Amino acid sequence: MMSDLYQQLYEKNKKYLWNPFTQMKTYLADEPLIIASGQGVKLTDVNGRQYYDGNGSVWLNAHGHNHPVLNQAIIDQLNQIAHSTLLGAANIPALQLAERLVQLTPRSLQKVFYSDSGAEAVEIALKMALLYWKHRGHPEKNRFLSMKNAYHGDTVGAVSVGGIDSFHRSFQPLLFYTEKVPYPYPYRFAGNEAECKQACLDALTAKLEEKADVIAGLIIEPMVQGAGGMIVTPTGFLKEVEKLCRQYNVLLICDEVATGFGRTGKMFACEHEGVEPDLLAVGKKLTGGYLPVAATLTSDEIYDAFYGDFTEAKTFYHGHSYTGNQLGCAVALASLDLYEKEKRVEHVQQMARTVREQLRPIAKLPHVGEIRQLGLMIGIELVEDRQTKRPYDWKEAMGAKVCRRARDLGMITRPLDDVITFMPPLIATETELAEMTSILYQAIAEVTGT
Ligand SMILES: Cc1ncc(COP(=O)(O)O)c(C=O)c1O
Repeated sequence: MMSDLYQQLYEKNKKYLWNPFTQMKTYLADEPLIIASGQGVKLTDVNGRQYYDGNGSVWLNAHGHNHPVLNQAIIDQLNQIAHSTLLGAANIPALQLAERLVQLTPRSLQKVFYSDSGAEAVEIALKMALLYWKHRGHPEKNRFLSMKNAYHGDTVGAVSVGGIDSFHRSFQPLLFYTEKVPYPYPYRFAGNEAECKQACLDALTAKLEEKADVIAGLIIEPMVQGAGGMIVTPTGFLKEVEKLCRQYNVLLICDEVATGFGRTGKMFACEHEGVEPDLLAVGKKLTGGYLPVAATLTSDEIYDAFYGDFTEAKTFYHGHSYTGNQLGCAVALASLDLYEKEKRVEHVQQMARTVREQLRPIAKLPHVGEIRQLGLMIGIELVEDRQTKRPYDWKEAMGAKVCRRARDLGMITRPLDDVITFMPPLIATETELAEMTSILYQAIAEVTGT
C-alpha cells in the first residue's frame, strides 16, 4: 500500500532527482524504494516496510544503522564545530584519526592524506605516485599498471585504472593510457587455480620486464576484486605481486576502499598475506558507514619526496573543500572504538564461517555457478548453464531480477551484472544472516527456476 507521502516523494524523484548507477526509466517504472529510517541491520521505507540491508548500503555499514554511540559522537563534535579547513591548518579529530589510522594499517604506511570518497583517495594515490618519481628524478616513470576488470571509482583518473567494460568503455576518450594485466579469475580460466595464478604472475612479470622503466605504480584491489564480481585471488597471489613490485622498482598501491575495515575478516585485506603497500586508499567503512571520509596513506619515503622548502616547488597541490571534516573524523574515531570494544573483526571471522554453511543450499541451485567469499564479502554468480558456465544474456538482467525479488521478500541488495552481492553490515548476527540467506535462496530459486 503506497502512502500519500510516498506518492509525493515519488513525484519529486521523477521531477528532480537523477540517481547514480541507475537507469531512470526502469527505476521510475518499478516503485522506487524511498528510505525513511534505519535501525541495526534493517532499513525502513516511507510506507513502513522493513528490509534487511543486504549490501550494507553499498558496502559501507559496519555497526548497523542509527547506532547510539556513533550518533552521540557526531552530536558531541557538532557542539564544538562542524567543519573548518585542513588547507594550511588542522583540527582535533583529523589529527587523532590520522594517528589511529597509522597505528592500524600495515607498518609501511606512516602519513595520512584525507579526502571525501574512495575515488578521490585513488586519484590522490595516483598523483602522489607520479610526483614521487618526478621529485626523485625519474619523470619518465609516469604510467600506471592496473588490473583488467578492476574498479577504483568513477572519477576520470580512477576510471583510467579501471577495467570493467560496461562501466568504463564509453569514457575512453577522456582516459589516460594505462598498462593492464589480468587479475586471476579461476572460475573463468581453462585450468586449475594454481595454473590461473601462475599465468597471471607470468603476464605481470613480462609486462614489468618490458615496461617497469616507465611505470610509476601498480594499483590493485587486494585479495578481492569487488565491483568486478567479488573475485577472490588464489592464496599467495598478492604476496607475489608485492615481490614483483619491489623487484622491478614500481610502487604498490592497494585500494582497500571495499575490503578495508574488517570486511574480509582482517582489518585490512593486505594483512591476509602480510603485504605492505607504498600507498593505501581507504574510504567506505572508515566512518562506520556514516559520513563521507576517505584517506590515502603513504610511506615516509613518499612523503619525504615532497618535503622541502617552498621554493623547491614540491608542494602537493591537491585538496577538497571538506577534507578532514571534523564530524566525519569524529564518527570515524568512535567507529574505530567500536571495532575494538566489540571485537568487530573477530565477529566477521566467526560469521564468515557461519554464513559459508548457510550458503550451501544456494550453491546447489541449478543456476548458481559459483559462490565467492572472503569474510563477509560475498558474490553469488548466476549462470544460464552450470556445466558449461555459459552466462545469461546480459539483456535478461537476471541479477537485477533476483535482487528485485529479494526486495519483495524483505532484503535489499544490488547485482554486479549476474553476480548477486551479499555484503551485510558487519554487525549482523547468525539469526539475521540466516534470514538474509534464506531470502536469497528463495529469490534465486524463483527467478532462475529450479
Ligand atoms: C575498490 C574500490 N575503490 C574505489 C571505490 C570508489 O569509492 P567511492 O564510491 O567512495 O568513490 C569503490 C567503490 O565501490 C571500490 O569498491
